[in-house]
Amino acid sequence: MKFPLRPFALSLLALGFSALVYTSAQAGGGHYYPPVKDPVVKEECGSCHLAFPAAMLPAASWQKMMGELDRHFGDNASVDPAIAKKIAAYLVANAADTGGSRYGAKLMRGVDPASAPQRITKLPKWVREHREVPDWEWRHKDVRTKANCVACHADAELGYYED
Ligand code: HEC
Ligand code: HEC
Repeated sequence: MKFPLRPFALSLLALGFSALVYTSAQAGGGHYYPPVKDPVVKEECGSCHLAFPAAMLPAASWQKMMGELDRHFGDNASVDPAIAKKIAAYLVANAADTGGSRYGAKLMRGVDPASAPQRITKLPKWVREHREVPDWEWRHKDVRTKANCVACHADAELGYYED
């Protein structure tokens, strides 16, 4: 893993513990998106791709997506209705405009949550952050799709999206 911890450790020595917590919270707002913690969501939504952090889309998006899992980006991702209900509850509670807003607010800039966007990779902020990624890189055999976050963000599973 790359080291977000190192600057924190330095500031710990230099500034003491409360400053450390503050620094970590500040840094966290920018590129940290809490990974899915619920084991059911992790399993059901992490088998075909990274279990995308709930804080990357607003609640209305998750609600819509969970209502049409049989038509999920050209795939059938249906699960048992009782399980779908649980997954939806977790995603909605931690969404970019609910419990996860501290992390997701930045990605929501210029987005009307009620429009229920279905792709993180189409959010204006996401597009801006990736505008310098060249075409060939998206098409690289180890990447293939914008949704393959882990190909470029080695620590995505841990919630970190730096270089
Ligand atoms: C059967 C495989 C499969 C399962 C299971 C699955 N997905 Fe997907 N998902 C896909 C495919 C395929 C795409 C489109 C990927 C692409 O564009 O390359 C996708 C895309 C997405 C995207 C949009 C990514 C983007 O481009 O921003 C989100 C969000 C998403 N899935 C959430 C979920 C959630 C939540 C679950 C669990 C309920 C789930 N997925 C389960 C196959 C699956
Ligand atoms: C082809 C490689 C590639 C893929 C695939 C990719 N990214 Fe990125 N991402 C980048 C690069 C390069 C940057 C810019 C890094 C920088 O400015 O430090 C970036 C920046 C980001 C940032 C902003 C980080 C910050 O703090 O400024 C976020 C958030 C992010 N990506 C999330 C994602 C998510 C979520 C996915 C999958 C849906 C994804 N990325 C897929 C290459 C990629």
